[in-house]
Amino acid sequence: MRIALFVLFVASSFCGNGQPLKAVIKIDVSRKKGEIDKLIYGNFTEHLGRCIYGGIYEPGSPQANADGFRKDVIQATKDLGVSIIRWPGGNFVSGYHWEDGIGPREKRPRRKDLAWGDVETNEVGTDEWLQFAKATGAEPYFCVNLGTGSLDEARNWVEYCNAKTGLYYSDLRAKNGHPEPYRVKYWGLGNEMDGEWQIGHKNAEDYSKFALEAAKMMKWSDDSIKLIASGSSNYVRDWAEWNRTVLNRLHNWVDYIALHNYSGNYDKDHNKFMALTTTVENNIKITEGIIREVRAKYKMKKPIYIAFDEYNVWYRAWNDKKLEEHYNMQDALVVALYLNVFVRNAHIVKMANMAQLVNVIAPMMITEGKLWKQPIYYPLQLFAQNCQGTSVDAWVETDTYDVGNFKKVPYLDVSTAYNKAAAELIINVVNRHPDKGVTTTIVNQTGKLTGKAMISEVNSNKLEDENGPSSELVKVANKETSVNGNTIQYTFPAHSFTQLKIKLQQE
Ligand code: AHR
Repeated sequence: MRIALFVLFVASSFCGNGQPLKAVIKIDVSRKKGEIDKLIYGNFTEHLGRCIYGGIYEPGSPQANADGFRKDVIQATKDLGVSIIRWPGGNFVSGYHWEDGIGPREKRPRRKDLAWGDVETNEVGTDEWLQFAKATGAEPYFCVNLGTGSLDEARNWVEYCNAKTGLYYSDLRAKNGHPEPYRVKYWGLGNEMDGEWQIGHKNAEDYSKFALEAAKMMKWSDDSIKLIASGSSNYVRDWAEWNRTVLNRLHNWVDYIALHNYSGNYDKDHNKFMALTTTVENNIKITEGIIREVRAKYKMKKPIYIAFDEYNVWYRAWNDKKLEEHYNMQDALVVALYLNVFVRNAHIVKMANMAQLVNVIAPMMITEGKLWKQPIYYPLQLFAQNCQGTSVDAWVETDTYDVGNFKKVPYLDVSTAYNKAAAELIINVVNRHPDKGVTTTIVNQTGKLTGKAMISEVNSNKLEDENGPSSELVKVANKETSVNGNTIQYTFPAHSFTQLKIKLQQE
């Protein structure tokens, strides 16, 4: 085999303090980890702040389509590559009665939402939101109210959405102008029911008993639906016991267990902030272990996966009821780190939803009528557009650091995928180092790298750099280069996310 050495040199890597660090990444596409489900590039819209009203929906705006949904949001959602959108909450759903949101709008009740303290007008309900989801091309994912909701309510919602006409609720749907079933496939059994902040919070036993009865009735209404159990969001000392109880009770009925996590730079410590996703990955592995335990105990054939259906950076706007977080370059790195975790664990994480879509802890904002993209938009877009196929193992040798309880955190965080259909190798690399580049030798061990390589980098001069309605400091820089051989030398600049997409010819 001919081995050529290509030096793709990045000048900025030698800026900052001292010499760049060194690393080696070895990739063998025959070391397959699991198929990447496109549903890991999902999102979430909740009735909260300006996400629905003034976000996806703004009838008076020049951007509104005939249904009142903003065309710029729809377009930016499509461009982001969003595969699935969760709705209507979030904490909101635990006090939401879906029947408030159907039928003639003028008859819909105004209610106080106890989760966020807003008034819910119910202008956007099931039929309207599904029009929005359809316009974006994303799969709808509904979460039912297991806080104050009833078993009948959960089951009736499935009938309203999915049954052919001829039943009470499907006929009601037809009467409301939608004779054809929507076929909503993904249904969550409550939101964050492990959290004391949740309306109708329950202990694990009580939640499991209630969710089991809801699951039975929902599946008996439509056995083609996929159910997602509410798993851990409250990482107290015995958090994993919640998942064990839930899975022991619900294993026959559910297809996924949900995990949630938000990260924040509370200590203003870059290295610590960059290490937080190592805990996220560990929590995924702990949950995977419990899934294995339960499947073995009950000799199960049916798989159960993890739906990481809320994740993001969220800390500055923690006490602001509108949750309008302004993201910077540093936060974009954390989002890329989350996505690396999901790709590395693609065998078990089969859905993930960035929380949320617009204005509320979101990749896109609307300021004075104008849509602009936050730094966190770009890593998600690169992953969703390019990182498809099979997750493959990467062996990474890199310098590490210790911070607080985090030991041996690697400066380079890597995930890799092989897209057989496109004959492409995708390498996603976060350089956590705040001011040093990492000069890296990348060795491909099966097949031959050939043709063109696309290099896309999300970076900015300073970690604090933000975007706004009239300036975009954090964005994607693309360059193309030719590759012919199996060893590449590349310097990943300080505090960057880089995605390499290279043609790979199998021998
Ligand atoms: O996404 C914001 C909130 O975070 C959601 O309503 C809730 O599920 C989580 O605590």
